[in-house]
Amino acid sequence: MDALEAMRTIGTARSFRPDDVPDEVVHRAAEAARFAPQGGNRQPVRLVVVRDRAKKARLGELYERTWRPYFESRAGADPGRYSPAQRAMSEFAARFGEHPLILVVCARYEDLLVTDLELDRPSVVGGASIYPYVQNLCIALRVEGVATALTTALCRVEPEVRELLEIPDEYLTACHLAAGYPAQGFPTKLRRRPVEETVFVDTFGSNISRSARHT
Ligand SMILES: Cc1cc2nc3c(=O)[nH]c(=O)nc-3n(C[C@H](O)[C@H](O)[C@H](O)COP(=O)(O)O)c2cc1C
Repeated sequence: MDALEAMRTIGTARSFRPDDVPDEVVHRAAEAARFAPQGGNRQPVRLVVVRDRAKKARLGELYERTWRPYFESRAGADPGRYSPAQRAMSEFAARFGEHPLILVVCARYEDLLVTDLELDRPSVVGGASIYPYVQNLCIALRVEGVATALTTALCRVEPEVRELLEIPDEYLTACHLAAGYPAQGFPTKLRRRPVEETVFVDTFGSNISRSARHT
């Protein structure tokens, strides 16, 4: 599988076969992911691969506690009224602690080059040294046949996650990936805006055309 096909068919998996994902598969994916760019080559990212049943169960409880109220405030509390996508998300949440792997992405705060702290808007630049690694990892796992679902819901309860996994104080948690072999295969068609709506040339709003050649 080439990189373009992996990117187009990666999707968010919300149900997994119970099969184990061996350490060697995770190792190969992390081996590729580590070449992601990050500010100043400071390499802030660490990954905790959670397999232990009791620890996953605790992460599952924490996920339900943080994610469910947010979800129900939008979708309501009656599963009978959920769309298929909402049902999948709800069931994913209910089983969070049972997914084969939970990968906790940590980053050393001092090793993030954060250039937008003084702007009058929420800071996002710190993440630019973390999420390229995460996407590399997801793509590399996809190539191995392993599906993932990225969530940031557990970042709200970072102190509890930190305590559970003995993550040192100087590391933050940036996201969590549920991972495993997908129960329903990989998607062939993901719904995204077309390039013409999102890519501009020279001036914001001036659309790129499919046929244009730019020098
Ligand atoms: C920052 C971020 C947070 C997300 N949090 C959740 C989450 O808490 N629960 C969940 O089921 N999916 C979560 N997702 C997955 C998105 O819902 C998913 O990427 C989006 O619906 C598109 O789905 P698709 O890639 O399968 O088309 C998250 C994705 C991102 C990038």
